[in-house]
This record gives sequence, structure tokens and C-alpha cells, in this order.
Amino acid sequence: MTTAPGAEAVPAPEKRLHIKTYGCQMNVYDSERMADVLRPLGYGLVDSPEGADLVVLNTCHIREKAAEKVYSEIGRLKELRDEDPASAGMKIAVAGCVAQAEGAEIMTRAPAVDLVVGPQSYQSLPELIARSSRSPVPQSRGERLATDFAADAKFDALGGGRAARKVSGPTAFLTVQEGCDKFCTFCVVPYTRGAEFSRPADAVLAEAQTLADQGVREVTLLGQNVNAYDGMDGGLAALIRAIAAIPGLDRIRYTTSHPRDMDEALIAAHGEVEALMPYLHLPVQAGSDRILKAMNRAHTVDSYLKLIERIRAARPDIAMSGDFIVGFPGETEADFEATLELVRQVEHAAAFSFKYSRRPGTPAASMQNQVDEDVKSERLARLQALLETQRQAFNARMVGRTVPVLFERKGRHAGQIVGRSPYLQGVFTSGPESLLGQIAPVTIEATNPNSLSGRLAETAAMLEPA
Ligand code: SAH
Ligand code: SF4
Ligand code: F3S
Repeated sequence: MTTAPGAEAVPAPEKRLHIKTYGCQMNVYDSERMADVLRPLGYGLVDSPEGADLVVLNTCHIREKAAEKVYSEIGRLKELRDEDPASAGMKIAVAGCVAQAEGAEIMTRAPAVDLVVGPQSYQSLPELIARSSRSPVPQSRGERLATDFAADAKFDALGGGRAARKVSGPTAFLTVQEGCDKFCTFCVVPYTRGAEFSRPADAVLAEAQTLADQGVREVTLLGQNVNAYDGMDGGLAALIRAIAAIPGLDRIRYTTSHPRDMDEALIAAHGEVEALMPYLHLPVQAGSDRILKAMNRAHTVDSYLKLIERIRAARPDIAMSGDFIVGFPGETEADFEATLELVRQVEHAAAFSFKYSRRPGTPAASMQNQVDEDVKSERLARLQALLETQRQAFNARMVGRTVPVLFERKGRHAGQIVGRSPYLQGVFTSGPESLLGQIAPVTIEATNPNSLSGRLAETAAMLEPA
């Protein structure tokens, strides 16, 4: 581009971008990166769709309810565009896992949608937006739909250094791995996110450094199977050690892991790397070997329990979290009781549990013996009651302890600040705002339904060893 002598480069006019994110943390990360890619085009983030030039729905396909939400949201946006003059120029984009799984169907079922972009194609966003001029000339589908699998191209284009990553606050997500080769029979992820792909370690470390430079103290390494990371020799354990060596990055977490990929090196890291937080999300899904086999989970109840034993030997205070599915096809009352028994044995600090949802194209969807919705609901309620008791017991055991808290934000009350314990619990205390972004010891005094509260400890010397 040539500029006339003396002419100033004119900044692109500010355009309003609204992104609504559903699903897992990987979508949260992707939404941030989409904002980064669109920023140089003049798009600034806004909190609501009213008056936006572009609305991106970053969708989730994991359960039926999640996927269906998208269509009702598109309906609401279309109404807004039709009725609110300030929103008349709004483009509607569908991104994420529903885009990948049902891209062509979205185009037919919801003509209000201007463009569809799958999770591996976010680098094509600027081009797709340019092509989807809301002109009366009908455009072909191919011009407005991008759902190729090209994880390497995605990260090259979105990679830490190039499309400058902007973060606020002391915690950040960092995707290091995408996709899944495990093919659990209930799950859409291998189809929506493609094969397992690990980002090269140098790209990850460069991005981690830019986070540290912006004051980030805690990174959560993300992947659908993050512990299958193989972007460097030594796998995830080696990556964690390399990140721990970056000054300022004092806390490291990772999620989500598959029990099959918890290797010795990673278990050892839990005992040895101070920055690696004592919290592990390691979904087991069910507590009956028969069901685990039908789910194609590649672990048994016994191998899972032995694994937990080894992890707890390396890091005795580790807090466990997991995911559970009730009402998988063929699950009997006895199978379900076995899940409750496993939960009793492991003790969870937190957990997510779901009713099995039949997903098109997955093997379990066509299995015989689908479980009645009523039975699923009843089992889910029993499981959640047990998990809730464990969560509360875990929180209650914190009272009287002094733990390091990373302060993230101001609380609602004057003088209140809020942060997280190493075990991912929210902690409320009174303290100066200067502590935001800092780690300071808090003596826990009470538990609240969803958090802990306490007072700043007198001196750092009172801190329990991490
Ligand atoms: N990769 C991660 C998580 C993937 S999805 C893992 O393997 O652990 C997150 C959770 O959603 C899963 O752990 C599972 O518990 C749940 N889930 C996936 N498919 C589901 C389905 N069809 N019905 C109900 N829950 C499902
Ligand atoms: Fe889905 Fe299983 Fe892969 Fe997790 S490991 S993403 S549950 S197929
Ligand atoms: Fe949902 Fe896709 Fe994440 S299906 S859970 S957004 S990987």
C-alpha cells in the first residue's frame, strides 16, 4: 500500500465485536484469540450484542442441550438485527464445535447466519468476514463456511507472538494441545476437534513468556487430552518444568487429562515442581468396568484407583476433580451403585456430572438399552448429592489452615478482595487492592456455599509449605 506524502495513516474505524462463549475452557481461549485476530481490523470487544457489527457465537456440541441453545440464540440475534436500527448491520458468525459438526446444516436451518467457522479455521476469520458482505447478492456456501482441520495453521496464525495476545488479570489459559484420538463411544470431540495435535514447545514457551510479561502469575495449560502433549521430549511434564522456569509464572495448572496418559514423569512432577498446583481434573466417567468398556475408556476401576494412589503418594494433598456420566446405555442400578462406590473411595474436591446425552454419529447413540430420562435424572440427583457432600467436607477441612491465595479481583463489598487457593477454591478476604495480582497467605476462617473466607495472615512465615 502506498500513502500520499504527508498523509497520516488513518486507523481503521472502531467496530464492535461481541463474542458469546459456550462449552469448555478451550473455547474460552479460542474466543480470546479470535478477539486478538480481529483487533487489527478495528474490532473492539463489547459486552452485549446490541449495536454490534459482528457477533460470534463460539459453540459447544458436547450435549444436545448445548447444541440446541445455538439455534435459539441465532433466533434472538436475528430479531435484534431486524428490529433494532442500531443493530441492522450486524453480522452473525457461528464458531466452535457446532460449527464444525453441523456447519452446512446451520447454513440451511438458520439463513440469518452470515458465516460459519470451525475451531481449526479461526485464522480465516478476517477473510470470511470480508467475503460475507451483507449485500443482497446471494453468496455461495463455500465462501462463508470454513471447517477444515488444520490445527498447525491455526496456531501458526494465532500463535503467541504474531497476533499479539492481550490479557488482563493475573490468570490465563494457554492451549497447548487440541483434538482427541481416544474415541470414547459417547463423545463428539474427536469429530469436532479432529486428531490429537500438540503445539511445538517453543511456540508455547514464547506465548507463556508474553503472558508473564503482562503480569500473569498463573497459567492453565489446556487440551482435550492435555497430558497426551508431545510437542517436546518428555511430554507435558517437561513442558511444565520449562514453564515453571519462567520468572513470574508461579502457578501452573493443566486440564483436561485422560487417565491413560498420566505417565510416571507427570506424576513425579506433581511431587517436585513447586509451581504445579495440587489440583487434578482426571475424569473417570463411571465406576463399573462393564460400562467403562462400553464407553471405550481404556481403563478399569482398579487401574484408575491405583493411579490415584500413585498420584497421592507423590503429592499427598492433591485435590481431585472429575467428570461423570450417568445413564450410559445399558447402565443398571448395580453399575450406577459402583459409580457411587468409586466416588466414595476417591473423594472429590469438585466434580462435574451429566446425564448421558445421545450425540449423532457417535457409537453409543445407536446402542440398544438406552436408559430412560427419569432414571437418568434420579441417578444424577443421587450422584450430585454425594459429590456435594464431598466438596463441602473438603472445604470444611480448610478451616484453620493458612494457604497462599492469588488475588484476582475486588469483591462486591468495600475493602474486599477475592482470589484462589492452590485447590482452586475462591477465597474472600479484606485487604488492600495492591494485593491484586499478588500471592499472599490467608488463614481460612469459614466456608460459604461456593467459596471460603478468611483473613490475611500476619507474615509470610506462617505459610504452610506449598
Ligand atoms: N477430554 C475431556 C473432556 C471432554 S468433554 C476428557 O476426556 O475428560 C467433558 C465432559 O463431558 C466429559 O468428561 C464427559 O463427562 C462429558 N460428556 C462428553 N460427552 C457426553 C455425552 N454424550 N453425554 C453426557 N456427557 C458427556
Ligand atoms: Fe471425548 Fe473421550 Fe476424547 Fe475426552 S478422551 S474428548 S471424553 S473421546
Ligand atoms: Fe464443547 Fe467442543 Fe469443548 S464440544 S466441551 S466446546 S471441545
